Order: sequence, then structure tokens, then C-alpha cells
Amino acid sequence: MRIVTIGRGTIGGGLSRLWREAGHDVVELGRDGGDASDADVVLIAVPGAKISAALRGVTGLNGKIAIDATNIMPARQGDFPSYAHEVKSFTHGPVAKSFNMNFGALFDAVREQRVRPSNWYVADEEAREVTERLIRDAGYDPVRVGDLSRARDFEDAVWLLMGIEPVGGVLYRFAVPGEL
Ligand SMILES: NC(=O)c1ccc[n+]([C@@H]2O[C@H](COP(=O)([O-])OP(=O)(O)OC[C@H]3O[C@@H](n4cnc5c(N)ncnc54)[C@H](OP(=O)(O)O)[C@@H]3O)[C@@H](O)[C@H]2O)c1
Repeated sequence: MRIVTIGRGTIGGGLSRLWREAGHDVVELGRDGGDASDADVVLIAVPGAKISAALRGVTGLNGKIAIDATNIMPARQGDFPSYAHEVKSFTHGPVAKSFNMNFGALFDAVREQRVRPSNWYVADEEAREVTERLIRDAGYDPVRVGDLSRARDFEDAVWLLMGIEPVGGVLYRFAVPGEL
């Protein structure tokens, strides 16, 4: 797939590396923006308060499938129902919220585990297939916890994730009985 990441830091840069290893063609954009016309999917990985500022600097977004990885920390900004909805106001296409519930500092450990760690996500139906593929290609198993109407609840749940010790990050696994 052709992927454009908007943000090339811990999350954008880290996922770019994992996705290139899985054979994808990835272009990373920073705060100066750029063009996403050729993308099959765009990843949004900028500070949550900078979503609009960052997306204003990117052309070719209209109709693109977007995966929003932003978090509301340290505090939610703006009046959109969710940050995922703020992204959608620029892309006008299917949106998924994923990788916001996974620790970038642990990307290198994901493929070394006895079982594949989970990656919760919420998504519009039309974004599911691409999102699940990219979650798997980053080394996780996808777990859908709702459609995009749950994005705000999902974003707010980050505070629970941040409460889990040890501070600095955990991997997690959801399973049906018999799987563990
Ligand atoms: N770190 C984690 O473990 C983690 C986990 C889940 C979700 N998240 C979320 O993912 C997003 C990215 O986090 P990160 O840790 O990857 O951040 P980061 O390392 O600080 O990278 C931020 C990226 O955003 C870009 N950017 C674009 N417009 C910007 C602006 N106006 N101001 C500042 N930066 C701008 C930066 O561009 P330049 O390259 O030009 O500086 C940089 O590439 C955040 O919403 C964060 O809450 C982080």
C-alpha cells in the first residue's frame, strides 16, 4: 500500500519503519506539510492540539481513508465530537482511530512476544479492512471496539491506559476463552 504519515515522530516514524519492513511504500510528512494525493491511506500522528494546523498544510486529502493515532493528552482541545471527527472534517472519507492505545516506545518489542499483542480500534466500516491490515503488518492483532461514533469514548479511555503500571508502557492482549 502507499501510505502517507502526517507526523514522523515516535508514532509516525515508528510505524513507517514497521510498515516498510512489511513491504509498504511510506512517505513521512512533518510540520511543513506536503501532498497526500498518491496515498491509499493516511496516518495522522501529530500532537492532538495540532491536527487542524497540520492538516491545513497537506494537499490531496479529500476522500482518503485516514487512520487517526492522536491522543487528547494533556487535555482535549476544540469543539469537534472527537479528534477523529476533526480529521474527518479535512478528509471527508472513512476514518479509523487506531494506534492511540499503543505505546510507541514498545514498537520494537511487539514482534518478540509469545502471543501477538492486541491493538484496539474504532472505525467507519469502509476503513476497517485497511486498518486491520496495517495493524497486523505492524505486528498486532486488531480488536474492533466500535464504530466511529465511539471515538470520543475511545479517546477518553487513554487515561485508563495511562494508569496501568509500569509507567512507560504495556502491551495487552484481549482473547476469547481457549485462546490463551
Ligand atoms: N508516543 C506515544 O507512545 C504515543 C502513543 C499513542 C499515541 N500518540 C499520539 O500520537 C501523536 C504523535 O505523537 P508522537 O509521540 O509521535 O509525537 P512526536 O514524536 O513529538 O512527533 C510529532 C510529529 O508531529 C509533527 N507536527 C505536525 N504539525 C505540528 C505542529 N503544528 N506542532 C508540532 N508538531 C507537529 C511533527 O513534525 P516535525 O517532524 O516537522 O517536527 C512530528 O513529526 C500525538 O497525538 C500523541 O498523543 C503517541
